[in-house]
Amino acid sequence: MILNQGYLIKRHSNTRQVEPYYMRLLKENELKDVMKLQQSVYDALPNKEVLYMDSELGMYEDLKAGAMILGVYNSKDQLISYRYISFPKKVEHNLGNDILLPENQLEYVVHLETTVVSPDYRGNRLQSLTLSKAIDLIKPMGMNHLLCTVSPYNLFSLYNIMSAGLNIKSLKRKYGDKGDQGIWRFILHKDLRPEATTFSEDYHLLKLDRIAEQKKLIEMGYIGYNLIKESQMIQYALINDDIQSPFEFAV
Ligand SMILES: CC(C)(COP(=O)(O)OP(=O)(O)OC[C@H]1O[C@@H](n2cnc3c(N)ncnc32)[C@H](O)[C@@H]1OP(=O)(O)O)[C@@H](O)C(=O)NCCC(=O)NCCS
Repeated sequence: MILNQGYLIKRHSNTRQVEPYYMRLLKENELKDVMKLQQSVYDALPNKEVLYMDSELGMYEDLKAGAMILGVYNSKDQLISYRYISFPKKVEHNLGNDILLPENQLEYVVHLETTVVSPDYRGNRLQSLTLSKAIDLIKPMGMNHLLCTVSPYNLFSLYNIMSAGLNIKSLKRKYGDKGDQGIWRFILHKDLRPEATTFSEDYHLLKLDRIAEQKKLIEMGYIGYNLIKESQMIQYALINDDIQSPFEFAV
């Protein structure tokens, strides 16, 4: 089933060329294409820390358990971008646990896992487009919470994710194992239910790479709700006490 189609601009050295694209869900037997694209995007990254690579087996098992991969294809039917989403339910790595989501909400969590766009096709807002299509797919499933991790050093991804209304609710090291502390990640959240959240007028502005100060603010209850791309500053504020979201009431 085609989820979306249209035209995009392919950039190559100094040339720009308009090209049709289409978006569809990938099948389990197409994971080789995903791995190939992930590897080529990773190889081209100046800072490898921004992309935590998924394994083929992990993705395969996740797809069997209901996860989805939205793929974007160019006019030659080549995969040029994908967005991987999963439904973690009540497992320890559910990111709802990192932001102290009430236990009865964990089964309504959707993880926005990896997203990549081939360098030749960047600037077409494909990250945002696949996100809005993913939301169209999950809303009828009765899911309430979108959660994801983004590196503080990934300006482009963070900007797109925050523009879609996800807010920073935690900052911690993730993906570590024995002896390895892991890498810094913001944990972002959006409640898909009708929200009544408003932020206090007083706010703090902090540069993306000021890890310790941001961590302290978050521990004090501040939420990062806006990223100013030009200055790479995040705006943090408290939620107004008198108007709380349904999730705060449930705690
Ligand atoms: C993050 C990412 C998916 C965004 O791609 P996208 O949807 O094409 O980005 P946008 O269309 O929003 O780009 C907006 C602008 O930023 C630029 N841009 C986007 N990503 C960029 C990057 N990694 N490096 C430099 N510039 C980038 C675009 O060229 C565009 O510039 P323009 O306005 O002058 O045309 C893409 O950069 C990427 O694949 N990064 C590597 C993997 C990654 O970090 N994934 C997210 C974590 S899982």
